[in-house]
Amino acid sequence: MNLIMKMLAAPATVLALWAVSAQAATNDEIAKRLEPVGQVCVQGQECKGMEVAVAAGGGGGAKSPDDVIAKHCNACHGTGLLGAPKIGDTAAWKDRADHQGGLDGLLAKAITGLNAMPPKGTCADCSDDELKGAIEKMSGLK
Ligand code: HEC
Repeated sequence: MNLIMKMLAAPATVLALWAVSAQAATNDEIAKRLEPVGQVCVQGQECKGMEVAVAAGGGGGAKSPDDVIAKHCNACHGTGLLGAPKIGDTAAWKDRADHQGGLDGLLAKAITGLNAMPPKGTCADCSDDELKGAIEKMSGLK
């Protein structure tokens, strides 16, 4: 009799635990579904997760070399307009780098401008690092 009770009780316990955990999972799912889809972020309040969206959306995020080149440098450096060293013409860039004391010298000229080369290559809000990234990519120099 005792043995039979144990045999009946064991699966019943397992079943009960299963039922509880299944219930919990369901409640979690329901809670998820009830979460607001878009959360309103009020100025002055802390908004978890919103910083990421802002950084990716614009403003703070770093510009990739390809972005900077496509938007600002390609107009002249793509074709060699006005005597600009062409993208990918590493020899021409190397020649200039040698004259300016390396990549940092080129960067300095890119910031101040040089003859027909406008200051910062028209990317006024580019950081030095972003300009340098673009120069490295265009010249193939490191
Ligand atoms: C309006 C045309 C124009 C645009 C836009 C432009 N450049 Fe230039 N760039 C030139 C010209 C022209 C030269 C060659 C200047 C010279 O030697 O007289 C030059 C030269 C350079 C040099 C070599 C400087 C040196 O010391 O020899 C660098 C570096 C450079 N550009 C970077 C950039 C970057 C980075 C961008 C984009 C953010 C850019 N340029 C956008 C026209 C342009």
